[in-house]
Formats: sequence, structure tokens, C-alpha cells
Amino acid sequence: MLNLNKTPTQTQLKILELLSSHQILSGEKIAKVLNISRTAVWKNIQNLKKLGYPIVSEKKGYSLKSKDLIFYTKLEKFLKELDPKFKIFYLWETTSTMDVAKELSEKEELCLIIAEKQTLGRGRFNRHWISNEGGVWMSLLIKPFLSLRDSFILPYVAGVSVVEALIKITNFELFLKWPNDIVYKEDDVLKKVAGILVELGAEVDKLKYAIIGIGINVNNEISSLEPTAISLKEISNSVWDRTQLILEIVRIFMQYLKKSFKEILDTWEKRSLTLGQMVRIIQLDKEIVGEAFALSEDGGLLIKTKQGEIVKVFSGDCFHLRFSS
Ligand code: BTN
Repeated sequence: MLNLNKTPTQTQLKILELLSSHQILSGEKIAKVLNISRTAVWKNIQNLKKLGYPIVSEKKGYSLKSKDLIFYTKLEKFLKELDPKFKIFYLWETTSTMDVAKELSEKEELCLIIAEKQTLGRGRFNRHWISNEGGVWMSLLIKPFLSLRDSFILPYVAGVSVVEALIKITNFELFLKWPNDIVYKEDDVLKKVAGILVELGAEVDKLKYAIIGIGINVNNEISSLEPTAISLKEISNSVWDRTQLILEIVRIFMQYLKKSFKEILDTWEKRSLTLGQMVRIIQLDKEIVGEAFALSEDGGLLIKTKQGEIVKVFSGDCFHLRFSS
């Protein structure tokens, strides 16, 4: 069963948008603007509160405690212009947007699933991904014309799109760290701003769908359990517009998806902090230490060991020996 029960209705989304652009609004005013009864306003507000939205009822009317919400209508308008097939699913809370995307993959072609909170967010190697309010937690469901073999390019497409969108909007010095973290360099410490998780559905060697999961620490509080993470808000001491950020990422992603593998890998190399560095790659059964110097044509990281051997790796945890992270 599709877990969409924590999705606000169209009327509720309109109420949220009205409240986020006003300090306070009376039930009467909302009813007038939306052409619904005051009882309908009251009921919808109660349901939004039940979902978890921070709405305060006062004598003079209703107000939102936090104006930092993702704007569904703006997302929908922009993404439908980008591609009319786009469907957007905006949830207050879900287990993981990856789960929702997977359920949608049977029927849908192109979707963006966003949640304000995830209760069971996951990262690479099934690690827990803390997803409190204020971050960007989203999954893009796509059905690209790619063989399973060529699907290695998708995490790279996502990596370059996220780092370029973040740099464009924030102007911060952000880099890609292999395999696909977006990091901020604070003196000699690398702090993780965003992570990417790609899950595939395939039949024999044919790719049926790909789910691109993107998690970005934007305005969320970083938990003490994540000492190597940092949010955009922490870097700049200001709140960022998450809707704009999401739109920029999807726009750039759709553009990169049409580019040649060479161009994508070259851009990744240019934006990466890993190449030219001494790294330690930790895999389940082994460790590789050496200088990371390039990406191979099939998406592996090429490392030259002390013994002069060239090793190609496709997965693992990567530690930069010069920086602590
Ligand atoms: C990683 O760095 O390990 C990848 C983290 C990916 C997190 C995102 S948040 C949205 C989507 N839903 C999830 O459960 N995970 C991805």
C-alpha cells in the first residue's frame, strides 16, 4: 500500500502557502480567498495540525510558526514546464522517499517525491540517514534509456547536479568527495553537506527504473550523532529557500542526463576534491591506500598504490588522508 496518507490535500497546500506569506490570517480571510466555508477552513487547519504542521491558532487568526516550508505549487508549475510528464508527491512525513518512489515505479514514469521528515531515511550501505525538518529529502524516479551496464553514470549525474545547484545558489566552496558526498571544507576538516543514494530496478540487463535519492542538510539542526555533517544554515547563519534549491537541482539534473558520459565524468573530476589526493578506501574485505588520480570510462576510481600498481574501485568508504572527515 502506497504510504501517501501524510500528504496534504490541494486545499491544505493552498492554506499553507497563504499562511507562509502572512504573519497572521483570520479564518474568514482564508475562507474568502479560497472560496470555501469557515468550517472547511477550521477542519483543514485541524488536519494540517494533525499532520504535524506548526500552525498556531490565536484570537486574531492562524499563523505558521515556521515559514520554512517547501512550496508544492511552485514545484509543480516549474517541473511540469520542464517536462509535462512530471508528477510531484509532497509529504509531511514518510518512512523514506526511496520507499515511496519504489512503490510508484510500477505505474509512474517521472516523479519527484519530497518529504519534510523521514522516519527511516537510509544512506549508502543501508546506514541510517537522519532526516529532521528543514532538510531536503527527496527521490527522483526516472526511467532512462540506459542499459544496466551504463547505469553507473547516474550517481555521477546526480553528484554534479547537486554540487552545481548548491554552488549556484549559495556561492559556498563545495566539492564532490568520492563516491558521492558533497562536502564543505572547513580548514582541514571535510564536513558533509549532502549525500546521494541511487537504487535501481532491472530485468536481466535492462534498466526498468532508477531512483535517485538526494539528502541535503539545509536548514535542519545537525544531530550530535553526526559530527562530520554540516548544514547550509550552519555555514552561513541564514535560512535557505529549499523550494528554489530543489528546482535548481532537478533542472540541472535533467540537463546532465542528456549529456555524454565523457562530459559528465569530466565535470565530476573538475568538481572533485578526491582526485590528486592520498586516500584510503575501505571495502568489506579489503583496504586500498594510494593516490586517487582519475575516473575510468566505466565510472571506477583509479588509484595508484605505493607499489605503483593501478587499482580500480567501484564502491567503498573513502577517507582522504590529508583531511579529517
Ligand atoms: C549517503 O550519503 O549515504 C546517501 C544519503 C541519501 C539520503 C537521501 S534523503 C532522501 C532519500 N531517502 C532516503 O531514505 N535516502 C535518500
